[in-house]
Amino acid sequence: MMRQSKKMEAIPFSPIRKIFAEVDKLKSEGVDVIGLGIGEPDFDTPAHITDAMVAATRNGATHYTPNKGIPELRKAICRKLKDEDTLEYDSEEIICTVGVSEGVFVSLSAFLDPGDEVLVPDPSWLNYSHVPTMNGATSIGYPLLEKNNFQIDVRDLERLVTPRTKMLVILDPSNPLGGVQERETLEKVARFAIAHDLLVISDEIYEKILFDGRKHYSIAAFPGMRERTIVLNGFAKAYAMTGWRIGYIAAPADLIQVMNRMHMYIVTHTSSQAQWGAFAALEGSQEPVREMVEEFRKRRDYVCERLNRMKGVSCLVPGGAFYIFLNISGTGKNSEEFTRYLLHEANVAVVPGTAFGACGEGYIRISYATSIENLEKAMGRIERALDQLEQPVPAL
Ligand SMILES: Cc1ncc(COP(=O)(O)O)c(C=O)c1O
Repeated sequence: MMRQSKKMEAIPFSPIRKIFAEVDKLKSEGVDVIGLGIGEPDFDTPAHITDAMVAATRNGATHYTPNKGIPELRKAICRKLKDEDTLEYDSEEIICTVGVSEGVFVSLSAFLDPGDEVLVPDPSWLNYSHVPTMNGATSIGYPLLEKNNFQIDVRDLERLVTPRTKMLVILDPSNPLGGVQERETLEKVARFAIAHDLLVISDEIYEKILFDGRKHYSIAAFPGMRERTIVLNGFAKAYAMTGWRIGYIAAPADLIQVMNRMHMYIVTHTSSQAQWGAFAALEGSQEPVREMVEEFRKRRDYVCERLNRMKGVSCLVPGGAFYIFLNISGTGKNSEEFTRYLLHEANVAVVPGTAFGACGEGYIRISYATSIENLEKAMGRIERALDQLEQPVPAL
């Protein structure tokens, strides 16, 4: 077999995949597994978005578009950023991407050299650890801890920054934590980034899934931050469009021109149909988003309430996204063991916290992007599985 490149030798298959391989095996044996692992809304894309895509396709939107995307969509993105986030961008400062995933790849790869370091949340969505490795750079995890309400502690950033640190990644709201950074926290992070002259990636893909009246703040809008921030956002989570593969990058022109050169040689542009769907998503009614968020809130309340009454586990009530990071340290099992235990004893699939970084030890990620009926069934099964567990002897 042809030898893989050195950089790919260091890239493992996602540990989440291992769990899903086990889930598939159980399902093929006829076991009724409830999936609380997957990170995508269980709703269909709102009909007006799909209709707009079909109409555009019928009307000839089947050709190449400009690399950065159709001007209509880029202008709509600029209006959104201005109205909702007080961010001013020209439409030439927007690149429409193949999901936020492409934005993550391009924004890191266009600026990292071998030997560079990137400060990345621990725990965090996996791409932020592996894409730096693919570039010969190193991701350095900064801890997000339950005892700090999953807020960024700038003292950790100060401890971890070195002369090699080039970039800082923020996920707000967070996958896998569901945590939302407070305005004061972001202000401190912005001052830190300026003091150390760092380029900041702000992944805001869950910005619309916020609860209890919380407001989203983009760090790019803080003084001195626009010129050093790359905003990544998309349509997958807010508009239930995971399969469409459309997102965007917003950044100052000097950064955009670098990323656009990479983007054009990787994908040319994202699908024209997806772009017209995304345009309809931004320009049309936002009522479906509000309804979906309200449904997520009801599920979050239900699941948190149930879990916090169970033996050996507890969770903070998350402020955003559709994940619960459940503390399982009272069960006497580590994250992987507990995930396997739930899968085989309760037939409930979750993701071990360690899949997202070392700070995820002692936790599992539960996604509540599934029907309330499924959640009720899953909570009953988890509760029974916990009752059957021999409780560890508490430390004196
Ligand atoms: C933080 C974060 N960023 C980006 C993505 C990927 O988004 P997309 O489907 O638009 O590529 C995900 C998906 O789970 C995510 O959790």
